[in-house]
Amino acid sequence: MLKSHSCGELRAHSIGQNVTLAGWVHRRRDHGGLIFIDLRDREGLTQVVFNPEVSPDTHGIATGLRSEYVIQVTGGVSKRPEGTENRKLPTGEIEVVASSIKIFNASKTPPFYINEEVDVDESLLLKYRYLHLRRASMRDNIMLRHKVIKYMRDFLDTRGFIEVETPILIKSTPEGARDYVVPSRVHAGKFYALPQSPQQLKQLLMIAGIEKYYQVARCFRDEDQRADRQPEFTQLDIEMSFVDEEDILVLLEDLFTSLVETLTPHIKLVKPFPRLSYTEVMDRYGTDKPDIRYGLELKDISPIVADSDFGVFKSAIQNNGRVKGICLPGCANYTRKQIEELTEIAKGLGAKGLVSMEWAHGNTEGDLSAQVKSVAAKYLKLEQLRALMDQFGAKPGDLILIAAGDLNLVNKVLDELRREMARRLNLCDPNLMAFAYILDFPLFDWNDETKMWDSTHHPFTAPFDEDIPLLDSDPGKVRARHYDIVCNGFELSSGSIRIHNRDLQQKIFSILGYSKEEVINKFGDFLEAFEYGAPPHGGIAPGIDRFVMLLTNSKTIRDVMAFPKNQAAIDVMTDAPSYLSDKQLEELHLKVLDEEKSK
Ligand code: AMO
Repeated sequence: MLKSHSCGELRAHSIGQNVTLAGWVHRRRDHGGLIFIDLRDREGLTQVVFNPEVSPDTHGIATGLRSEYVIQVTGGVSKRPEGTENRKLPTGEIEVVASSIKIFNASKTPPFYINEEVDVDESLLLKYRYLHLRRASMRDNIMLRHKVIKYMRDFLDTRGFIEVETPILIKSTPEGARDYVVPSRVHAGKFYALPQSPQQLKQLLMIAGIEKYYQVARCFRDEDQRADRQPEFTQLDIEMSFVDEEDILVLLEDLFTSLVETLTPHIKLVKPFPRLSYTEVMDRYGTDKPDIRYGLELKDISPIVADSDFGVFKSAIQNNGRVKGICLPGCANYTRKQIEELTEIAKGLGAKGLVSMEWAHGNTEGDLSAQVKSVAAKYLKLEQLRALMDQFGAKPGDLILIAAGDLNLVNKVLDELRREMARRLNLCDPNLMAFAYILDFPLFDWNDETKMWDSTHHPFTAPFDEDIPLLDSDPGKVRARHYDIVCNGFELSSGSIRIHNRDLQQKIFSILGYSKEEVINKFGDFLEAFEYGAPPHGGIAPGIDRFVMLLTNSKTIRDVMAFPKNQAAIDVMTDAPSYLSDKQLEELHLKVLDEEKSK
């Protein structure tokens, strides 16, 4: 190699050695006579000194060095003079006194600092991604990601899993998003779909007798982008035969626990992972992906306020809605403006407003109704007010925020407010990963727009055996053998025990509103495979990007992917997607409707 050591490697015991380093100029200081540079490579930084008395030529070249020049330096490792050691740097006890230098390449001044983690507009960071990746934080994320994937592979290998690659050009698989499609040149008018996940393929591998499969699998979904979503992302896709839920839950808990404890020992875990039912988390947190690092739980006060004369509560309950709220400790002194801000959040989600109740701090004189400030207070009897405060476990000094109306909306609003307030009150411990299993999901969700049932997970998820009779009489009550892993408020993995019986699978498709022809057309071959001895099987697929995002406490999954797309699904660096030439379009039998756009 063009270097004898990395820039993160030299220590006091290396003093006296002659070494060759190569890397980028991270920082340069000219101390009139002596020139110091921090030389950077993937492994770290080493201080290099250019002394005109040691080598005037080398020193002369070093006067021209600028940030991000790529150089090679040879020299002797010396102890840094007393008092100039840098204890923050692993190589901080030594320096390399350069005797020769070679400049491999100069560099333009980068569009942002690489040696300082200052905030820069993200589009600039994405355009010059290769420079952003040079920053220490990004390098660390990418290196940790590598270790995570290696750990996952080794772990599953020791448990008897084999990695099988599945194709990228396939027929559509329903995972609830739109497909990315690829036109066929050879078959005019036909398209491949890119996998939203290898769901059917991994099930077919079970029918093929693979028994324990995994894949670090790339998935593609055309859906709205968010901080935790990308159009292409990576799953640790897992499937096993002859298992029930417990086998998969235990396997994943072992994997995540041992991985976090090995690779990031500074992170604390809640062990064993709590197991919560869907109904319970919807009640307590208003979401199926709760952040359980903190309390601020939702309380249903509908029974308490059911017979109050307060219009907002009364009409919500009369219309089959609910009245729920959260108690924010010590927030009674929130200003009108702060409460308005929170109300705006609620309105942004579709609520008409919020009811606030401030229990004045330190004011324990008189009865409770005199101490609680709220538009609702005068409509509530003293016992109601007291019961309400008890329900929240409120104390003087607390602020209660209440939402009333349709239960789904109330839950959505309070979930968002709970997250927002946890951020404002600094309740999220960044060194805690609070995993939890969510179980007993309903098999179907009612879709009010299409007036049809949707799969809560996907159509291949098995119902509980004892709920099968309800498929005909009351599909909304059927529970699924579906499990999610959530962590710090994000859905990290979804999985399920699958249907392995053709008739049941067909029945589920028909409840989902697929016609017989559609089933044959979309899933005919898949269903046929069930007739050749399909073993009972189940699986799960943790999102690797989301997991590394949580592990590194990053704000978005973009920070843990080498080349992500922006919020508009554009690759800013290469400007993809881009137009095709007329010739390419013709070959692919395509015509772009908007003439202006086909260039
Ligand atoms: P699901 O659709 O729930 O299940 O996806 C599993 C996990 O993949 C991650 N994920 C994403 N990550 C980044 N960007 C996205 N757009 C995105 N979409 C999903 C999440 C999620 O929990 N085939 C089933 C799994 C199974 O049943 O075995 C599936 O894909 O972390």
